[in-house]
Amino acid sequence: MKLKSLLAMALAGVMMISAGCGGGDKKQETKAENKAPQKLTMYWGALEDFMVKDIAKFEKATGIKVEAVRMSSGETLARIKAEKNNPKASLWFGGPADGQIQAKVDGLLEKYVSPSAAQIPDQFKDKDGYWTGVYIGYLGFASNDKLLKEKGVAAPKTWDDLLKPEFKGQVVSANPGSSGTAYTMLATLVQLKGEEEGLKYMKALDKQMKNYQKSGTAPARLAGQGECMVGISFLHDAIKYREEGMKDLVLTAPAEGTGYEIGAVSLIKGGPDQEAAKKFIDWCLTAKAQEIGQTVGSYQFLPHPDAKQPKQAAELSSTKLINYDFSWAGANRSKLVEKWNKTIKE
Ligand code: F6P
Repeated sequence: MKLKSLLAMALAGVMMISAGCGGGDKKQETKAENKAPQKLTMYWGALEDFMVKDIAKFEKATGIKVEAVRMSSGETLARIKAEKNNPKASLWFGGPADGQIQAKVDGLLEKYVSPSAAQIPDQFKDKDGYWTGVYIGYLGFASNDKLLKEKGVAAPKTWDDLLKPEFKGQVVSANPGSSGTAYTMLATLVQLKGEEEGLKYMKALDKQMKNYQKSGTAPARLAGQGECMVGISFLHDAIKYREEGMKDLVLTAPAEGTGYEIGAVSLIKGGPDQEAAKKFIDWCLTAKAQEIGQTVGSYQFLPHPDAKQPKQAAELSSTKLINYDFSWAGANRSKLVEKWNKTIKE
């Protein structure tokens, strides 16, 4: 649905209510008020400043009051699972689709084919209508140039470069259990090398780690702050941090190919504000709404063909991507994370 028509609808709603007040037709007024959705609770997987801006725009366009909590992908999945019999939120926005695909497989989502989804190309949405893409992000390495120069080493250019002795104790990633970013990394390595070799690689990488963060947005920031030499994050986050002043950040992507995310939106099964959630989905899939992120430094590519792509992300356009299998990665998320946990503890 176009923002213009939403505004017109909101205006019509306001007019209806004020007309009711004047005319004294109490019954009709109550009916109209009961029908129009008033509030929406959502779980948000992208950055907080993006969340604040997006919600402010949606509230202004529709009059619906939104409450949102930012969580990493694995956290949201666990929360929705725990709330299965009494869902507290109706909508999941952002975070790699893998998490939402696992939620679909686990019966935690409600199918919703938004009229706005017709504009989104098939490769960026679920064929069964359970989730739709709102942005696309590429995984890579954010290194601190100052630290690299001090040690006389080059920024990593392949996944195997991360295993070099000079990076021992100098790599930061997030935990694939909590983070959608880190799960994208795990699923990428398994797709590139096969399950056995992929997990072997993850075990070797574990020996290089300085620490694991909860969110994949942290490693690039820590590299920018000089806390580690290399952070594994989505590269659009590193561009944001560099723009905000972390000038030592250099970005590279693995030459053998890297994984990517389709950030997705979906409806949570049995959530309290289904109608309001549907309105948000209709709205956030429009080209205009997709362009909001870039106004606050969220530089993911956009799936809507009419949306203006963020020019800051142009430097990523030559990144070599693997043919990431979202259905496989999503449906195997919980199992693969369990195997990873076991492998690194062995
Ligand atoms: O820009 C924020 C972002 O990188 C999104 O592109 C991505 O979907 C999300 O954060 C992943 O966050 P996490 O790793 O915490 O699940």
